[in-house]
Amino acid sequence: MKAITCKNFGLPDSLVLDELTLPPVGESEVCIQMKACGVNFPDLLIIQNKYQFKPELPFAPGGEVSGVIESVGAKVKHLKAGDRVVALCGWGGFAEKVIVKANRVFPMPPGMDYINGACTLYTYGTSYHALKDRAQLKAGETLLVMGAAGGVGLAAVELGKVMGATVIAAASTAEKLAICKEKGATHLIDYSKEDLRAQLKEITQDKGVDVIYDAVGGKLAEQALRSIAWKGRYLVVGFTTGEIPQFPANLPLLKGCSIMGVFWGSFAEREPQQSLQNLGELLGMMKSGAIRQHIHKIYSLNEAPQALHDLMDRKVVGKAVVKVGDWIEEPIVAKESKPVEAVKSSVVPKPLRIHFKDIKKYVGQSLGVTDWFTVTQETISAFADATQDQQWIHVDVERAKQFLPEGKTIAHGYLTMSLAAKFFYELIEIEGAATSINYGLNKARFPVAVKSGSRIRMTGKIMQAEDMPNNGIKLIMEAVIEIEGESKPAYLGELLTALY
Ligand SMILES: NC(=O)c1ccc[n+]([C@@H]2O[C@H](COP(=O)([O-])OP(=O)(O)OC[C@H]3O[C@@H](n4cnc5c(N)ncnc54)[C@H](OP(=O)(O)O)[C@@H]3O)[C@@H](O)[C@H]2O)c1
Repeated sequence: MKAITCKNFGLPDSLVLDELTLPPVGESEVCIQMKACGVNFPDLLIIQNKYQFKPELPFAPGGEVSGVIESVGAKVKHLKAGDRVVALCGWGGFAEKVIVKANRVFPMPPGMDYINGACTLYTYGTSYHALKDRAQLKAGETLLVMGAAGGVGLAAVELGKVMGATVIAAASTAEKLAICKEKGATHLIDYSKEDLRAQLKEITQDKGVDVIYDAVGGKLAEQALRSIAWKGRYLVVGFTTGEIPQFPANLPLLKGCSIMGVFWGSFAEREPQQSLQNLGELLGMMKSGAIRQHIHKIYSLNEAPQALHDLMDRKVVGKAVVKVGDWIEEPIVAKESKPVEAVKSSVVPKPLRIHFKDIKKYVGQSLGVTDWFTVTQETISAFADATQDQQWIHVDVERAKQFLPEGKTIAHGYLTMSLAAKFFYELIEIEGAATSINYGLNKARFPVAVKSGSRIRMTGKIMQAEDMPNNGIKLIMEAVIEIEGESKPAYLGELLTALY
């Protein structure tokens, strides 16, 4: 088969189009007839023998592919010949066929085309893991992305916006920054010309940046870290500048911040369930149109060395993709904008107006997050009067000053829970239903108490919508009520509503 072959380690110019012979397909492997291969920075490192994985020469680079399964090994049960798939093969993708371990091969989601299939898992998978699992980025926080117009960087910009952060994109040209703006960045910094620290100081009004996503490393890394906010999170993602930064240990001490490593490949292997959950959520966002890969250019197989050259020369914005063979592109049909999956998203309009008949389409999708609501002593006392629950921890302000943490009374757990209905009215408006009845509760947990004067808000999600007699629909709605400044929620539960 034809392959772009690395016979000697070196720069992209040393790659040649040649014939490579594939070994037989192992019992836990599949052979994929290639359609497309994403171009990623590690491809550049692997051909120079500078990457953590070191294949034997000769080999074809190209670690992320899409295609059709040609054959499967005897032990492979979940895939079959003819399946459209995406795969993370590590190397071997700049070729007509590739053999991959079956556990690194995934059926291609409906609606996704081969070009997008070949360049989506790696970038969005990495950036979502970084922002969601490592930094635990929250709506309302500031996110600085260094190398924002690159593959993982642009994905971080888009996801940061979807997760409700204010995104500051930093890249090396005005053209690159213009694409970052289109993808949702609010502030733009050209770090090839502008003073990074001074810009960040001005943008954050001296507060510093909550989360820094660094895909480039180098000299600017320390400047970025010096601009981090109290309790900020610095994500170490990559070193495209070729320089691994060394940080003075007094910086995290002074800032009370965390420097966090991100290694998506290892995460996917060690925590496969969480990784699959993330991929499912990303696919939900793609289906809804909330995120979409920016394709810089599609190259032919012969042009794969040029694609790597362009990446090395910092010419690529978003993703470069190598198309293998002469097949007709299937474009993604962008669906109408719908709420995104499992994120506190500022892109979900409030209230989301859903017609009664369409409600089932929204099952499993987030309704977004409400505005903050302050739980005052007046509210707590009124609830105590209404429920005749006058325990002193709720109502005796003077005693609370003496005996309770921070000297504040505590709201009844059921008060917090009962605010879920108010919050749902803020998030969703159902049209075409004669009536809706909030009639019950499936689950209720109260991990953290709400002190008087705290601000709380809710993220809502439709978990189930089932038919009921007389043309009714029973909804199970998930509610998560958080307290400002607390990592654990005040309330987690499922509420039951009947619509007629
Ligand atoms: N930790 C993980 O799990 C993980 C996963 C995937 C990727 N990565 C790493 O993340 C980094 C970015 O990967 P990517 O695929 O997004 O790369 P990419 O598309 O090439 O983007 C990298 C960006 O780095 C900037 N850059 C600065 N100096 C550069 C240089 N000397 N050569 C090339 N680019 C330079 C460029 O932006 P400007 O021109 O605007 O500066 C470019 O847009 C790589 O180091 C990769 O290994 C890590």
